[in-house]
Amino acid sequence: MSELCITGGRRLEGAIPVQGAKNSVLPILAASVLSGSVSVIHNCPDLSDVRATLAILRHLGCRVEQQGHTITVDASTLDRCDIPERLMREMRSSVIFLGALLARTGEARLCMPGGCELGPRPIDLHLAALRRLGVDVRELGGSIRCCASGLHGGEISLAIPSVGATENAMLAACGANGLTVIYNAAREPEIWDLQQYLNACGARVAGAGSSTVVVQGGMGLHTCQHTVIADRICAATFLSAAACAGGEVEVQGVPREQLVPVLQVFAEAGCRVRSEGDRMWISSDGHLRGVSPVRTAPYPGFPTDAQPVVLAALCGSTGSSVFVETMFENRYRYTMELARMGANIRVEGRVAVVTGVERLSGAALEAPDLRGGAALVVAALAAEGESCIRCLRHIDRGYENLSGVFADLGARITRRA
Ligand code: EPZ
Repeated sequence: MSELCITGGRRLEGAIPVQGAKNSVLPILAASVLSGSVSVIHNCPDLSDVRATLAILRHLGCRVEQQGHTITVDASTLDRCDIPERLMREMRSSVIFLGALLARTGEARLCMPGGCELGPRPIDLHLAALRRLGVDVRELGGSIRCCASGLHGGEISLAIPSVGATENAMLAACGANGLTVIYNAAREPEIWDLQQYLNACGARVAGAGSSTVVVQGGMGLHTCQHTVIADRICAATFLSAAACAGGEVEVQGVPREQLVPVLQVFAEAGCRVRSEGDRMWISSDGHLRGVSPVRTAPYPGFPTDAQPVVLAALCGSTGSSVFVETMFENRYRYTMELARMGANIRVEGRVAVVTGVERLSGAALEAPDLRGGAALVVAALAAEGESCIRCLRHIDRGYENLSGVFADLGARITRRA
């Protein structure tokens, strides 16, 4: 089992061109089945979740080529509308294929995605939205069978601004006759990126990034090219590492407005942060102060995916900080690993109270999930001594060459097979 070995205490210096956004490229790859044509997608990060999605596209009959960070999908040869359990289990967010397959073929069959390390991951909002567009949804045991002899436009009001439900509704609406309006839509930048891709294919989608998305369905879609936006959560990860290890790091490609709540926390903790266009700089002496309560929320609130890495950065601060995780019920598992490093964190349900300690110590650690694993890397970069982190499959889902990025910044980090 491969592991990341990190000797903490080195300042981080340098600039990072941030990888393409995982949570953008996955729905865009699913959406590539819509056009029945060729999509050339640039700036795709090399991640296991991307490889899992390409396996699904190939299973569906699409021709897929990958050259570096460019993926070409020819969906003209698609000849199936089912996703087998073995592929669904690889990645629960494959549920995004529901809307795309319904729009392209009028049918979709997959197994219930179930939960993940973060807890139950319901899809009731996805299914309710599809029903509003005329989809007949049958849940038979652990599988879902959706058919739509005629997708029609309609009004969808999401009870929660769910990212996945918004994306599934957008994709199905592209194949529906008439106008669809999605109220209380998720506002994440990745929704906007999906809109840009769809419109590049000839769709007519507007409003993404706001709470109301409008789709004029039934447009003929065609070949297109698209470049995926940069990953704001990776940027938050690199900023968190520089904040607690100390140093001066520039992250490139992510506009400031996508990370304001995170930048605010590090400014309050005593770092200097500045930005210019899509470049952000953070400088820190590695001595952080506790901050006022951090409460995760849908975009543009504090991102739940940044909670683990920011909390990890504050474990060696003076004073204490309170985190409230409102999105997922099981997102604090990584704190038990941080405790092995000497962190003082008290978790009560959705609330975590971090009481800063002088300095964490290196330890043998196991990544419990994607962002929890990244949090352990952040903590290890600032800790005294060596840490070895196992279960890297979680980290490989969302970070391309994480050890290489930090090594380029001066960290002592190696990946051992
Ligand atoms: C997306 O997941 C991201 N994944 C997650 O990133 C991210 O944490 C999440 O959005 C929130 O920003 C991808 O984009 C692939 P939601 P998603 O639907 O779409 C509840 C990472 O680390 N809900 O916005 O699954 C749900 O339980 C991952 O990169 C329902 O109740 O998230 C949660 O509490 C982790 N019913 C809340 O809504 C539903 O039908 C937000 O979930 C759907 C969601």
